[in-house]
Amino acid sequence: MTAASLEVREVSVGYGPVRALNSVSVDVPEGAVVAVLGGNGAGKTTLLRAVSRTLRFHGGTISSGTVSFDGRRLDGLTPAQVVAAGVVQVPEGRQVFARMTVADNLRAGALGAAGGRRAAAGAQARVHELFPVLAERAHQRAGLLSGGEQQMLAMGRALMARPRLLLLDEPSLGLAPLMADRIAETVREINAQGTSVLLVEQNAAIALRLASSAVVLEVGEVVLSGDADELAASDEVRRRYLGVTDDAGHPGVPEGADTGDVPGSVSAGAPRPAATLRRWSA
Ligand SMILES: Nc1ncnc2c1ncn2[C@@H]1O[C@H](COP(=O)(O)OP(=O)(O)O)[C@@H](O)[C@H]1O
Ligand SMILES: [Mg+2]
Repeated sequence: MTAASLEVREVSVGYGPVRALNSVSVDVPEGAVVAVLGGNGAGKTTLLRAVSRTLRFHGGTISSGTVSFDGRRLDGLTPAQVVAAGVVQVPEGRQVFARMTVADNLRAGALGAAGGRRAAAGAQARVHELFPVLAERAHQRAGLLSGGEQQMLAMGRALMARPRLLLLDEPSLGLAPLMADRIAETVREINAQGTSVLLVEQNAAIALRLASSAVVLEVGEVVLSGDADELAASDEVRRRYLGVTDDAGHPGVPEGADTGDVPGSVSAGAPRPAATLRRWSA
């Protein structure tokens, strides 16, 4: 049985005449962290919007393909219904309500969620445990928080809806390295508590450390996908996304090679599925 909880299948998206995604497929198995890498304009945010059903707020539409979560089609649902189904997006640039207090931002996150007041109280306890600073600053205006604290608030607000799958859009963007590491640690902890994560990141080093698998988007298409370890070891990813130029002695994938399955990585009883470092184009 394949327990793929999120299945994006051959999804194409346009903003008016602008094609932003072209037949993109990605799976997030139950309990996994899956990373989406790619440069500016590659279509990462668009992919998350296609899942959360928020494309139309940005003038976009899915022209073909399907999105399902636990076998249930999400395409056709409203954004609020997607939240109620357990899939919650943390938008790029945090988007906290700057003039509202931290506590009210968190309350807003619980609005769309299923469950009553007790469930919301439990969610808030979890958020305060993950981010003690949000309890300390509960009555401050969110706009006064630092960038890292605002990212914590944005994630906390999403967790108030008690998601089973979190869609995270560039959580480390614009943060100092230490704060980016702290956010990464929290993503790991959130995942360890049972929430799956689809993680969009330009910081490939962070993303590949957190994720079990990843896809690389270029101009709206998946050009590379596979286990995070294998991608982190591939010359192409190291050169283009990890900024590594000296790869002496590294068992990467030879440049220009049509990789297919990586030899030696298919072993009986391996904890992860057989290697699937796949190249889509060129
Ligand atoms: N609201 C929008 N209207 C028109 N084009 C858009 C809009 N949002 C994104 N795009 C275009 O779609 C493509 C993918 O953008 P995006 O998903 O934001 O990429 P990324 O998140 O990887 O930087 C880009 O060409 C971008 O210019
Ligand atoms: Mg983006």
